[in-house]
Amino acid sequence: MEDQFQTYLGWYLPEARLEYSKLPECGGLELLLIEAGFDDSQLSFDQIERLSDDPPYWIFCWASGRAMAQLILSGGIDVKGKVVADFGAGSGVVAIAAKLAGASQVYACDIDERCRELTTLNAKRNGVELHVIDDLSSISEPIDLILAADVLYEKKNLAFLDLMLNACESVVIADSRLKHMPDHRFRHFQTLTTTSFPDFQEAKANNEVKFYRSEG
Ligand SMILES: C[S@@+](CC[C@H](N)C(=O)[O-])C[C@H]1O[C@@H](n2cnc3c(N)ncnc32)[C@H](O)[C@@H]1O
Repeated sequence: MEDQFQTYLGWYLPEARLEYSKLPECGGLELLLIEAGFDDSQLSFDQIERLSDDPPYWIFCWASGRAMAQLILSGGIDVKGKVVADFGAGSGVVAIAAKLAGASQVYACDIDERCRELTTLNAKRNGVELHVIDDLSSISEPIDLILAADVLYEKKNLAFLDLMLNACESVVIADSRLKHMPDHRFRHFQTLTTTSFPDFQEAKANNEVKFYRSEG
C-alpha cells in the first residue's frame, strides 16, 4: 500500500519520497508523509500547475491538524468516551489523535479518495480503528463532537460551518488562515504556534493556529 502512495506522489513530484515520521509532541503518533527536506525550489511550471489544480492535501500534516492533535493528546480538547467526527481528515492526524486519546468511536471524513485511503493506512500504523467516510451525513449514530482542522482555506468553505453545526451542536475548529472568525456562533479559546509537518515554509502568518468552539 505504501508503494501505491509513492506512485500517486510520483505523478506530482517524481523525485520526492514518502516516509513514516513521528509527529513532534504527539506521543508516538506516526504518519506517512512527504520526506522532510524535499527541495521544492526547482519545480517546473507543469508540476506547480498540477499541484495547484488538484492539491495532494495528504502529503503534509497541516499546521492546524498538527496543533489540534497536540491539544487533543494533552487533554486540551476532551474526547474521552465521545463519538467524534474529524471533518476534512487529510492524513487522518486529528482522527488518530482522538482515538488515541480515548474517543469511543471516531469517524474520519474526507471528500478526497486518496486522503481516505491514507487515513486508513495511517490508522493501521498507529494501531487504531476509525470509520473512514466521505460524507458526514452518512453517520447514523449521534455525534458528540465534530473536529475540523484547516478546512476554511477558501471563503466558500465557511458553508462547512453550517454543515457541521447541523450534524452536531458541539464543533471545534482549528484554523491558521482565517484571521477573524466571521461566524458569531463560534468563540475563540486558544492559539498555538506551529508549522505544517514537514515544514513547507508557509508564510509565518499561517503558523498561528486559532481554535474556535461552537457556543451551543
Ligand atoms: C488543508 S487539508 C487539512 C487536512 C487535515 N485536517 C490536517 O490538518 O492536516 C483540508 C482537507 O479537507 C478536505 N475537504 C475539502 N472539502 C471537503 C468536504 N466537502 N468534505 C470533506 N472533506 C473535505 C480536503 O480533501 C483536505 O483533505
